[in-house]
Amino acid sequence: MKQLWTEKYRPNTLDGYVFKDDSQRKQILGWIKSGMIPHLLFSGSAGVGKTTLAKILIKAMDIDQYDLLEINASRENSVDEVRTRITNFVSTMPFGKFKVVLLDEADYLSPNAQAALRGVMEMYHETARFILTCNYPHKIIPALHSRTQGFHIDKIDSTEFTARVAQILIEENVEFDLDTLDSYVKSTYPDLRKCLNLLQMNSQEGKLASPTEGQGVVRDWKLDAVSMFKRGQIREARQLICSQAGSDEIDSVFRWMYDNLNLWSETEEGQDQAIIIIRNGLVNHTMCADPEINLSATICELTQIGQ
Ligand SMILES: Nc1ncnc2c1ncn2[C@@H]1O[C@H](COP(=O)(O)OP(=O)(O)OP(=O)(O)O)[C@@H](O)[C@H]1O
Ligand SMILES: [Mg+2]
Repeated sequence: MKQLWTEKYRPNTLDGYVFKDDSQRKQILGWIKSGMIPHLLFSGSAGVGKTTLAKILIKAMDIDQYDLLEINASRENSVDEVRTRITNFVSTMPFGKFKVVLLDEADYLSPNAQAALRGVMEMYHETARFILTCNYPHKIIPALHSRTQGFHIDKIDSTEFTARVAQILIEENVEFDLDTLDSYVKSTYPDLRKCLNLLQMNSQEGKLASPTEGQGVVRDWKLDAVSMFKRGQIREARQLICSQAGSDEIDSVFRWMYDNLNLWSETEEGQDQAIIIIRNGLVNHTMCADPEINLSATICELTQIGQ
C-alpha cells in the first residue's frame, strides 16, 4: 500500500512547517527554548496544520512517549471515558518534566465533557499540560478558554499553498500543468490535507489528471464547480453548488467562497464587492429560514460581479 502523501509530507520539525507569520514561529521557538508551555488551544479551519504543529511542538520539547496521552475527541467523546482516561494518566508522576495531554478536535466534546476537564487542568497544573485543538473556538466553553492560551492558526496564503503542493508533486515525479493544479487549489484551499489527498488520488502513472478528464478522476463537487466557472458555465456551477452543499455544510461553503475570492473577480474592486456579498449572505444565513435559497441568492449575486 502506498503511503499517504499527507503523512509522508507531514513535517515533523519546525523547519518544514509553513507559518503564516513569523511572530508565531518565534512564539513556538520561545516555548521550545524554555522547555515549558502553558495550556494551549490551537484553533483554525480544517487541514491548516493544527495537529501537525502540536506534534512538532511536543517532539521538539522532547516529551517522553510515556508522558504523552493523545485523545481524538471526535472518536472518544463520552464524558466518563475522557475524564477517567485523563485523570488516570495525569495522576501519576511524569518521567520527564511534565506530562502532555493532546486533546485533538476538542470541539467535539460536549460542554459537560469540557466542563469535566476544568478541575483536572487546575489540580495537576504542576505536572501536566493540555494542548487542545479545534476548528470552532466558539464551541469551546469559556471556562476552558480562560484556562488556555489561544493560538489561532491562520491559513497560509494561496501562493504558498500552491508552492507547497507543487513541490510535493515534483518530489513525487508527477507531471502537471499549472492551470490544472490551480483548479485543485481553488476547490480545496485552505485545506492542505484535502488538496494533497485529491492530488494523490488523481495522479496516476506520473501525471496529474485534469478534473475535466472525467474517467478515473476522483471528484470533489467543488472541483467540478471551479471547472464550470472557468469554462463560463456560471448557471451550471451555481446549480451544482446549491444541489451539493448539505445544510450542515453551508457554513463551510461560505468560507470556501470567501477563501477563493479570485473565482468571482480578478480585480481588487470586484473582490471587495464579493466580500460584502458573502458577508451579507452569511449574516442572512444565520437568520434565514431557508438556507439553500439564501446560498443560491448569494452565488447569483457573486456571479454577476463585473458583468
Ligand atoms: N503549515 C503547514 N506546513 C506544512 N504542512 C502542512 C501545514 N499545514 C498542513 N500541512 C499538511 O497538511 C496535512 C494536514 O494537517 P493537519 O492534520 O495538521 O491539519 P489540522 O489543522 O489538524 O486539520 P483538522 O482540523 O482537519 O484536524 C498534514 O499532513 C501536512 O502534510
Ligand atoms: Mg487535526
